[in-house]
Amino acid sequence: MQTARTLDVLRTKVAALRESGGSVGLVPTMGALHEGHLTLVRRAREECEHVVASIFVNPTQFGPNEDLDAYPRQLEQDGAMLESEGCDLLWAPGTEAMYPHGFATSISVTGVSEGLCGAARPGHFDGVATVVAKLFNQVRPDAAFFGEKDFQQLAVIRRMARDLDLSQPHATAIVGVPTVREADGLAMSSRNRYLSKEHRRAAAVLPRVMGDAIARIEDGQEVAPTLAMLEDELLGAGFDRVDYATLADADTLAPLDVMKGLPARLLVAARIGGTRLIDNMAVQR
Ligand code: PAF
Repeated sequence: MQTARTLDVLRTKVAALRESGGSVGLVPTMGALHEGHLTLVRRAREECEHVVASIFVNPTQFGPNEDLDAYPRQLEQDGAMLESEGCDLLWAPGTEAMYPHGFATSISVTGVSEGLCGAARPGHFDGVATVVAKLFNQVRPDAAFFGEKDFQQLAVIRRMARDLDLSQPHATAIVGVPTVREADGLAMSSRNRYLSKEHRRAAAVLPRVMGDAIARIEDGQEVAPTLAMLEDELLGAGFDRVDYATLADADTLAPLDVMKGLPARLLVAARIGGTRLIDNMAVQR
């Protein structure tokens, strides 16, 4: 696997990959890689001849109360994991390469980025949209791979790519990859490492109660009392707080109080032992 630390080197190496023929897939990450990220790389390998992964801890998506400095950085270990999955090129820019002195542009995707996690993390999705647009322009991939675990992020990126003509048929196909789960159902996340043993055990209740709530909604039970029951179950199992538990249109993320025959998603964010966990699942009609 090759590594690029500057934009000039990246462009030269991507051009060489393209000259050798075949499509280029991009897997954007902030490092601290786990099985969920590696699944994205494997999917990119299946769909594209060449795979580029980026590792950049993006400062503009961290809020003032979120600890950017504490975010795990393990470039060497991450590089070894990417290499063993057959990644061709690692793009690992420094902050200066990504946001040179005088950088003054921000992409804001209204609507889909405003509720749910966007309400608790103002500016977060502007930072995500801006850095992802830059990554698309830098690598110019045929396809880019994102986990459904961060479902709102995926919806924001899809909207931005459509609005700015960054997505197919013009350029990059946005591929959402299903969430990878631990044996007990907990969605894999870099944040799981912050859970104590006791909280880790209790956290497994989250996907279970979500599954139960979905079964009730699909069975025709009312949405609001079902979501209230889900919140009670989480608090009863040791969660400290439920930030949101929402049934939403899977495309716009507009809240739904009844199933309307559209693709829908149940999305939950809840805190346990100081760690904020998010999860989401499809709801069928
Ligand atoms: O999901 C992430 O790791 C980040 O939000 C992303 C998409 C790499 C942008 O920094």
